[in-house]
Amino acid sequence: MSAFTAALTIKDHRLTPAQVPPTVVEHLDTAEKITLTERIRCLLAERDATLVAHYYTSPELQELADATGGYVSDSLDMARFGTECSSSTLVVAGVRFMGETAKILNPEKRVLMPDLHAECSLDLGCPPDEFTAFCDQYPDRTVVVYANTSAAVKARSDWVVTSGIALDLVRHLAEKGEKLIWAPDRHLGAYVQQQTGVDMLLWNGACVVHEAFKAEGLRQLRAEHPDAHVLVHPESPLDVIAQADLVGSTTALVKAVQELPAHKFIVATDNGLFHKMKLAAPDKILLEAPIAGKGATCVSCAHCPWMAMNGLRNLARVLETGDNEIHIDEAVRERAALPIRRLLNFAKQRQQTVMGNNDA
Ligand code: 13P
Ligand code: SF4
Repeated sequence: MSAFTAALTIKDHRLTPAQVPPTVVEHLDTAEKITLTERIRCLLAERDATLVAHYYTSPELQELADATGGYVSDSLDMARFGTECSSSTLVVAGVRFMGETAKILNPEKRVLMPDLHAECSLDLGCPPDEFTAFCDQYPDRTVVVYANTSAAVKARSDWVVTSGIALDLVRHLAEKGEKLIWAPDRHLGAYVQQQTGVDMLLWNGACVVHEAFKAEGLRQLRAEHPDAHVLVHPESPLDVIAQADLVGSTTALVKAVQELPAHKFIVATDNGLFHKMKLAAPDKILLEAPIAGKGATCVSCAHCPWMAMNGLRNLARVLETGDNEIHIDEAVRERAALPIRRLLNFAKQRQQTVMGNNDA
C-alpha cells in the first residue's frame, strides 16, 4: 500500500468549513495606527520584550518587529531566533504552536501572544490522545511531526520538522533505514514521500489555506502568464505542487522572488507573504494562485484566519497587561524540547556542511 493510500484509510482529520473561523483582518485608521505603533515601541522597551512575527502576519506587525530589533521569518527561524534573543519576554505574533515552541525552548522567558485563539488547522487536526494511540500501534516507526502541532504531540515524537528542512531530515533518517510516521499534514507528507521514496505512514490532516489551491485554476493562470514562475508552499496538494518551478518554505519562496531572474511569479501560499516579497523585490509582479476553481468556494481565501487574529490592538493590550502568557506543563515541555532541539541541531549541522561545501 502506498503512503498516500495509507493516508486515505486513516481517519480524516481535516477541519470542516464550519470549524474554520472567518478571516477578519484588523483595519485601523492612520491616526490609530501611529498611536498604537508608538505605544507598542515604548512598551517593548519598558517590558524588555522582543517581537517575533511570522511572515503571514500583517505588514504593520512585520514592520514593527523589524524596526524594533525583533524578527520576521518562517517557523524554523522564529524558533531559532527565540533561543538567541536576550530579552526576558518574547511576544510571538503568529499561531499558537509558534508561541508554544518559543516557551518550550526558553522556559525562563515569559512568552506572550496577541491572541491565544490563534490556532492552526494542522494542530487542531491532530489531538494528542488520538495521535498517541495511533503511534502506539506502530512501535517500530520513528515519529516525525511537523512544527504545526501542540506541545503534547511534539512530546510524543522523535523528531520535529518544518517545511524548510523536511526533505533533508527524512533523507537522513532513511539513510539510517528508519520507517516513519508522519503527522499531521498529508500533503506535505505526500510530497516528502514522493521526493524521497521513504516508507511513511501519513496522518490525515491538512492546512485549510494551502489545501484550497486548485490545480485546474493554476493551469489556466499559467496559460495566461506563460512567462511566470510558479512558487508553491509544500502544504499544497500534490497536483498543485506538480506545476511548481520551486517548492519551498516561506523563507525559500521570498528568496526565490528576490534571486530568480524571472520577472513574474504565481505564488501558492498565504498572501501575507506578499508583503515581504514586495519589499525584497519591488519591481517583480506577484500573482496569487487561484483558490476557487469552477463551482468551488474558498474558506480562508488564501489568508490564514488564525494568523489574522494578530493585530496592533491586541499586541498593545498584552504588553500592557501581561495577559495571554503561554504556560506548558513542565514534564510535557521537557519531553517536547528534545525533538525540537534535535531539529535545531540538525539544521545547524546542515548549514555548516553547506557553508563548508561553498568554501571548498
Ligand atoms: P513555514 O515554516 O514555511 O513558515 O510554514 C509555516 C506555516 O504555518 C505555513 O502555513
Ligand atoms: Fe496552520 Fe495553514 Fe495557518 Fe499555516 S496557514 S498556520 S498551516 S492553518
